[in-house]
Amino acid sequence: MEALQAIKTRRSIRKFLDKPVSREMIRELLEAAMFAPSAGNEQPWQFIVVEDRALLDAIPRICATASMCRQSPVTIMVCADSSLSKYPDFWVQDCSAAVENILLAAHAQGLGAVWAGVYPLKDRVAAFQKHLDLPEEITPFALVAVGFPAETPAAPQRYKEDRVHYNGW
Ligand SMILES: Cc1cc2nc3c(=O)[nH]c(=O)nc-3n(C[C@H](O)[C@H](O)[C@H](O)COP(=O)(O)O)c2cc1C
Repeated sequence: MEALQAIKTRRSIRKFLDKPVSREMIRELLEAAMFAPSAGNEQPWQFIVVEDRALLDAIPRICATASMCRQSPVTIMVCADSSLSKYPDFWVQDCSAAVENILLAAHAQGLGAVWAGVYPLKDRVAAFQKHLDLPEEITPFALVAVGFPAETPAAPQRYKEDRVHYNGW
């Protein structure tokens, strides 16, 4: 899929077919994530691939807005690793870029995905640290539920001329 087409047709997918996602496809998602830009090329991320059904089913108890994990065959937890961070205040932007790359790579492969926010909600961060047995230096940042789409939301028109300002406000 061509890059601009992928960007403009990607939508959050929250309903999934009961069909597994191969490790090869998951690897493509992770590789795309690791190609994301990061401040000073610090690449301060770690990824936890959750395929275990019991772990997936428990996610909505921690994060009510991630109920789609009960249906998704896989969910990737994008985490920040403070031991890899050279510029402490930039990891949120780095991890956000990684999440977006996963969403686009999923779409390009015919998969569907949705971003569910974890950080900066302290209760979610603490609960996922416990749920996934994370070391102290690892901060869970976002969940990306992934699977074969069972819905096809329409592509909206989002360009707004009044949000664009050339050479100052
Ligand atoms: C930081 C962030 C957190 C989000 N958290 C959730 C979430 O917890 N649950 C959910 O269903 N969608 C979540 N979304 C997805 C947004 O709802 C979605 O991107 C938005 O409605 C626009 O729809 P689109 O992705 O189809 O363009 C999140 C998106 C972002 C960027």
